[in-house]
Formats: sequence, structure tokens, C-alpha cells
Amino acid sequence: MDANIVLLPGDGIGPEIIEQGQLVLEAVAKRFGHSFQFTSCPMGGNAIDSHGTPLPDETLAACRKADAILLGAVGGPKWDDPNAKTRPEAGLLSLRKELQLFANLRPIKPYKQLIDASPLKREIIEGTDILFLRELTGGIYFGDSGVKPHASGEEAYSMMVYNTEEVARIVRLAAKAAQLRSGRVTSVDKANVLEVSRLWRRVAAQVMADEFPDIQYDVVLVDAMAMHLISRPRDFDVVVTGNMFGDILTDEGSMLPGSLGMLPSASLGEAGPGLYEPIHGSAPDIASQGIANPLATILAAAMALHHSLGLTEEAAAIDAAVEAVLDAGHRTADIAAGGKCLSTEQMGAAVLAVLG
Ligand code: NAD
Ligand code: IPM
Ligand code: MN
Repeated sequence: MDANIVLLPGDGIGPEIIEQGQLVLEAVAKRFGHSFQFTSCPMGGNAIDSHGTPLPDETLAACRKADAILLGAVGGPKWDDPNAKTRPEAGLLSLRKELQLFANLRPIKPYKQLIDASPLKREIIEGTDILFLRELTGGIYFGDSGVKPHASGEEAYSMMVYNTEEVARIVRLAAKAAQLRSGRVTSVDKANVLEVSRLWRRVAAQVMADEFPDIQYDVVLVDAMAMHLISRPRDFDVVVTGNMFGDILTDEGSMLPGSLGMLPSASLGEAGPGLYEPIHGSAPDIASQGIANPLATILAAAMALHHSLGLTEEAAAIDAAVEAVLDAGHRTADIAAGGKCLSTEQMGAAVLAVLG
């Protein structure tokens, strides 16, 4: 198959991990007889520096034409001034919105080889297999916002807004995903306080009752979920929630596999290319040191093959290669639990060696 893959390396560790993701995709193309064309585009802080905007028109145009997009991460201290007129993160948010990527899939399935890399106890983690569905183009990230004068100085607001259709479509996807898994959906909200969550809860219940009566369905408040996620993670199958709650809960959930560096994600819409990225950020604290874990990005590349290109066997080969390097005891610093560790490049090379 011929495929056109846009790479958005981004900032910080982004270029370091994307390089490994690209090498892995090239190895897959070679092994399975495909031809992948890669186009690398500026996005994020680097694009602010080179183009004065975090999402240049040419980058957006290239993304629209792509079969799949692989992103490293954007942001960093250089662009963190709260008075700046734009930010790297705004580019990513615009890209998600422009491509209507409303569904962010974040699987959390700890590797048996990494149980000791987690700060949590083995008996809590073992057997966990959760698929988070985070709504990605609505909620507090995209509601009306502003700043105005106030007697004390200024007042700022960011509104959390959802409409019926936005809730219904993500809940529907969650239920469909659950049909292919163990048949349970948990919706997470803050309906005891927020009007927007009460709408979310009404719509979710309606969709589940009308369209998915066979799926076991329950609701959990987000504050309690933060606790259940690390005290009884095995009890959850598909978890569906809004944009900000999903963002926060999945970073917390990264402690189940033991590191943010292990969690990939797929952002999908009704049509068009998907956007694939690790859930972590640009990790400025370890950027340019060559020690970032590339596995989340490599696993995101596998999700791209699976969801956007329909190459399930190829995706499975990457997943198996990651398992194999972990079996062989290869670790980067974030998952080394004090043991010997590899550089970003060495970990990428270990995956490539298995892929052949
Ligand atoms: P972060 O995810 O970048 O880092 C949090 C911690 O996890 C750091 O200690 C970091 O070293 C570690 N970490 C992250 N990825 C790692 C990896 N692959 N290997 C080893 N360790 C890893 O979060 P932050 O520090 O809060 O944010 C830094 C910047 O990244 C901010 O500008 C933020 O807006 C941005 N960010 C971008 C994205 C994205 O582009 N999708 C996602 C999250 C944060
Ligand atoms: C993520 C990040 C982004 C988000 C930021 C960088 C806009 O934290 O992808 O999880 O909050 O969605
Ligand atoms: Mn995040």
C-alpha cells in the first residue's frame, strides 16, 4: 500500500521520539512491502519561531491531505509567557478542531514486564485493561473565554460547554468499543455540581438505554474516579468522559503502566486522517539528552497503522516488537526502576532489531 504520513515532530523531546517512530514505520514498510511517504511539518513552538503561528496554513493543508498524522509533542518554557499572544498548544488544539477529531482513544494496559516500574502495588495493577475515550473538540477547552477588568484587577473565564450531539457521538463510540471488549462503559462527570455534566449524564443515559441496552453502564463522579482509577483499575473497561477530565485522568492512569512514556493515543473523527501521538508532552526537563522513552510514540505509530491504514497485521507486529524488547529487559530511564537503561536511540534500535 502507498500511504502519505505527515510527521509533526514539535518541540522538546518531540523530534527525538518522532525520529524513532519514523524508523519503525520505515521498517514495517520494508518488511510488509508498503511504501510510506513522510512529510515533516512545523507545528507548535518551532512554528511560532519560524512562521509566527503555531499551526501554519501549509502544515494544516498537508495534514488534511495525509492518510495519517504522527505528532511528537509541543510546548516548552520558551513559549510559556502567560502574556504571549499565542502558544504552541493552541496549534494542537486548532489542528484537532479543524480536522474534527472529537474522539481521543487512550488505552491503558500495563505490561506484565513493567509491573515493578509502577509506584502502585502489583495486586492493584495486574489485569488492568482500560480504554479511555476522551471527548477532544468540545468542553472547557473550546468554550467561550476571555478576560475583563475587575475591581480587584482582572477577571478571566473559560466556559465548559457541551451540546447533545457532542455527548451522544462520543458515548456511542464508547459503547461500540465496549461491544468489542468486555461490554462495560463507565461515564465520568461532575453532575453533582456542573450543569454541563448534568446534560452529559442525561444524554449518555439516553444513548445507552436506547441504542446499547446490552452494555453494562454506570456513572462515576470525576473526583471519586481519580481515586478508583488507582485503587481498583481492573473494574473498568471503557471509560468515556469530557475533554479536561479525560486529560487529567489519563496522565494519572499512566502510573498503572508506570510512565507517561508508555501511553499512546489516537484522535479520530467521522472521516479524514487520524492524529496519533503519545499522551505525554514535550518533557522540557529531559529534552536534548537522548533519554526520552520512544515507546509511546512507537505504539502511537502502530495505532495509526491500525486505525487509519487498516494494516492490522503490521500494527500487531509493532506491538509484539515492543513486548519483545520489554521481555528482553530493555528499559529507558523512566521505566528502569533503578536498573540499567537505554537511550532513546538504543530503545528504538531494539524495536527495529525485532522487526527485522
Ligand atoms: P510532560 O508530559 O512533558 O512531562 C511530565 C513528566 O513526564 C516530565 O518529568 C517528563 O520528563 C516525563 N516524561 C514525559 N514524556 C516522557 C518520555 N517519553 N520519556 C520519559 N519521560 C517522559 O508534561 P509537562 O512537563 O507538564 O509539560 C511540558 C510541555 O508539554 C508543556 O508545554 C505542555 O503544554 C506540553 N504538552 C504537550 C502535549 C502534546 O503536545 N500533546 C501533551 C502534554 C503536555
Ligand atoms: C494532551 C495535552 C494537550 C491537552 C495540551 C498540550 C493542549 O495535555 O494532549 O494531553 O490538554 O489536550
Ligand atoms: Mn495531557
